[in-house]
Amino acid sequence: MKRLKISVVCLFLACAVFACSSGKAKRSELVIANSKSYEASLFRQNCAICHGQEANGKEMDGRLIPSLRYGTAAQKSEEEIYLQIKEGKLPMPAFKNQLTEEEINRMVQFVRRDLQGKEGN
Ligand code: HEC
Repeated sequence: MKRLKISVVCLFLACAVFACSSGKAKRSELVIANSKSYEASLFRQNCAICHGQEANGKEMDGRLIPSLRYGTAAQKSEEEIYLQIKEGKLPMPAFKNQLTEEEINRMVQFVRRDLQGKEGN
């Protein structure tokens, strides 16, 4: 009887894992908190405070800070994301004095590839 219960639980877990991995678009697979990549640590240092630990957006002072995975962020071109990070757009600060050109480019790729699941460029 106990065996049966355990296998039912295992089956349930397997289904849950499968449902999670197949149901969601691949764009949001990365868990930033668990990532040891350089970009993820830049994100944690510079962006998480506003966009949230996992870039899902959050509310701050009654204002909604957008997710970087879904929504308008996912509709932006590479160029637009680059400019947004480099020049900022109130109330988001410009990062051209905080991050090097290479770091800005890495963050653009991080947002597009790792968070939004876009291939290439
Ligand atoms: C002080 C808070 C703050 C910080 C820090 C911040 N952002 Fe933002 N960010 C915002 C706000 C607010 C917006 C929405 C601006 C608007 O309404 O146009 C935004 C918008 C964006 C957008 C466009 C999203 C969209 O939906 O159009 C991108 C991409 C972005 N941020 C990336 C970053 C990255 C990468 C970092 C770290 C290098 C960062 N942000 C740091 C507040 C911040």
